[in-house]
Amino acid sequence: MVALVGPSGAGKTSIANLICRFYDPTSGPVKLNGHDLRKVRLASLRRHLAVVLQDTFLFNTTLRENLLYGKPDATDEELIAASRAAYAHDLSCPTAVPRRPATEACA
Ligand SMILES: Nc1ncnc2c1ncn2[C@@H]1O[C@H](COP(=O)(O)OP(=O)(O)OP(=O)(O)O)[C@@H](O)[C@H]1O
Ligand SMILES: [Mg+2]
Repeated sequence: MVALVGPSGAGKTSIANLICRFYDPTSGPVKLNGHDLRKVRLASLRRHLAVVLQDTFLFNTTLRENLLYGKPDATDEELIAASRAAYAHDLSCPTAVPRRPATEACA
């Protein structure tokens, strides 16, 4: 495990953004296991990354649609697994009631 630690403005968020390829460096490469990230397929790179934001938010829609934002073709089983992993399954049903607001409790 690696922790990026430093004062505000040191570049922690910039490094995380570069690793995710939210933008590319203006000079020099960012390498992963010796491979320039610009030569790795974006979909392949992103499949191996998970981002946890400092400030979390839900889109103002159902839990199902919030989960599908991360993987539009997810199956019901994957949605349930994701909601359990996020400890959200007790809060709302991602599959049983598709139009249920994200914050409404599961019956
Ligand atoms: N797109 C950009 N172009 C030029 N400079 C930038 C850009 N984005 C960030 N910076 C600058 O790069 C430096 C590093 O910022 P960054 O947000 O990565 O720091 P940080 O370590 O995450 O800080 P914090 O602890 O406050 O979150 C800052 O001086 C910031 O103003
Ligand atoms: Mg930061």
